[in-house]
Amino acid sequence: MTDDLAALAAETEAQLAAAADLRAWDAVRVGVLGRSGSLTGLLKGLGQVPAEQRKERGAALNRLKAQLEASIEARRVALDAAALDARLAAERMDVSLPPRPGLPGGEGGIHPISRTMEELTALFGAMGFSVAEGPDIESDWLNFSALNIPEHHPARQDHDTFYLPAGADGRRPVLRTHTSPVQARTMLGQEPPIRVIVPGRTYRADHDATHSPMFHQVEGLVIDRGITLGHLKGCLVDFLRAFFGIADLPVRFRASYFPFTEPSMEVDIGWSRKTGELGKGGDWLEILGSGMVHPRVLANCGIDPREWQGFAFGMGIERITMLKHGMPDLRPFYESDIRWLRHWATSPLSPPSLAEGV
Ligand code: PHE
Repeated sequence: MTDDLAALAAETEAQLAAAADLRAWDAVRVGVLGRSGSLTGLLKGLGQVPAEQRKERGAALNRLKAQLEASIEARRVALDAAALDARLAAERMDVSLPPRPGLPGGEGGIHPISRTMEELTALFGAMGFSVAEGPDIESDWLNFSALNIPEHHPARQDHDTFYLPAGADGRRPVLRTHTSPVQARTMLGQEPPIRVIVPGRTYRADHDATHSPMFHQVEGLVIDRGITLGHLKGCLVDFLRAFFGIADLPVRFRASYFPFTEPSMEVDIGWSRKTGELGKGGDWLEILGSGMVHPRVLANCGIDPREWQGFAFGMGIERITMLKHGMPDLRPFYESDIRWLRHWATSPLSPPSLAEGV
């Protein structure tokens, strides 16, 4: 390398080393490689170099260019990394800081619906269930037909369905009327054995002290070989006793009808109609729907009913929350009244644990 090129190389490396941020780095880059940069100038001047030296000078300039480009890029990478480190240090958040005053039950508290979902996840998680989810807007095939509720079946009217405008296929999507379409989604999407619970929002055109047009359900689905009614009963009795915290809670299974299960059962728990107390009093309160998954539903979802059996259940999250805590009215769940929230919210710092009981 001739002296002038060696000098340019040394000078550029020194400038790069001195460039403390991306702005200074860019000034060095433009000063060397830009339209009127030093190296660009030398390349342009190649035409004036005597012909016998031009080839050698051109090769030297190209080598220098490659070398400086590599140095410039390496410096950019280093400066980028330093800038990111500085930003991460500046934006660091101390998550161990104590929460704002007012908790439990104040700002940042866990809404009782969310709390119940966390409890459901903890309880069923301990029984080997995972959590599945599906969309609020559902095709009528998944919400109804796949679940053995054909067109013109009266159950479609029972559900007071909210319909949306028809899509390109001419069919009207619905706001799901229950979490059961996620049963179909799960069976279509994964091979058995299956054990899932599905907490989520559901919608029906109904509004009074005990009904809201938007409410929450939790669905359960188990598919495996040799599943019997005994598994269904054991699972639900264990769940209800753990959830309500009453070891000898009376639980009754009563024959019922759902299009997607056969046989179907509604489940009642013991309570006192007079005092509202759960667990004693000799009265029965309906709490959930359940049954053995209908063979036609299994077949609709690509599962061979001769090989696999299962059970499913569904219940209202508001309802079990109100019963557990003795809440008289459904409407405050959605009113965002800070006084109600302060009273009923739980601290995010004490998530439900089985050791303490939910
Ligand atoms: N989907 C039913 C409802 O909304 C509940 C249910 C789920 C019943 C699963 C049986 C099995 O009422």
